[in-house]
Amino acid sequence: MYKIRPMTADDYQAVVALMKQTPGVSLREADSRESTSRYLERNPGLSFVAEIGDRLGACVMSGHDGRRGYLQHLVVLPEYRRRGIATALVERCLAELESLGILKCHIDVFKTNAQASAYWESRGWRLRTDINRYSFVRTGAENA
Ligand SMILES: CC(C)(COP(=O)(O)OP(=O)(O)OC[C@H]1O[C@@H](n2cnc3c(N)ncnc32)[C@H](O)[C@@H]1OP(=O)(O)O)[C@@H](O)C(=O)NCCC(=O)NCCS
Repeated sequence: MYKIRPMTADDYQAVVALMKQTPGVSLREADSRESTSRYLERNPGLSFVAEIGDRLGACVMSGHDGRRGYLQHLVVLPEYRRRGIATALVERCLAELESLGILKCHIDVFKTNAQASAYWESRGWRLRTDINRYSFVRTGAENA
């Protein structure tokens, strides 16, 4: 059995450890302890972890800009996959976002991450081919 609870800043180290050991998930300067605390403060109650026994076995982060929701860092440890944990975590995010009036959410997935793409498509998420995402980085912040 697993228990889902809101992620707190104290979970930072365990969540980063989870992401570091997961191919397909990238860690940036935006994932520093300070940035993560800021994100959690700006988006209270919208990021979750799953405790499995005494381990932190899965996580997801989400937030919104007042208009759309954004999910990131959905990771489940390999030994706990295909038990519905990711789906339960995502549902918690979507339900909380819906309660705030946010009904449409996005997630970025590396094109090389076929497993993640298969997951999102199986859950009814639609691959966007009608938009190009452009990003701009201020000089000196290339790993932002
Ligand atoms: C993608 C990931 C989060 C899915 O976690 P999970 O807990 O295994 O997912 P669930 O158990 O909720 O899966 C529910 C359904 O999604 C689909 N699904 C899940 N993983 C899948 C995969 N690897 N390939 C195809 N379909 C998949 C299945 O339909 C599954 O139902 P089923 O087990 O009854 O067949 C997990 O594989 C993971 O952590 N991957 C590495 C990190 C990553 O790439 N994260 C996404 C970044 S955008």
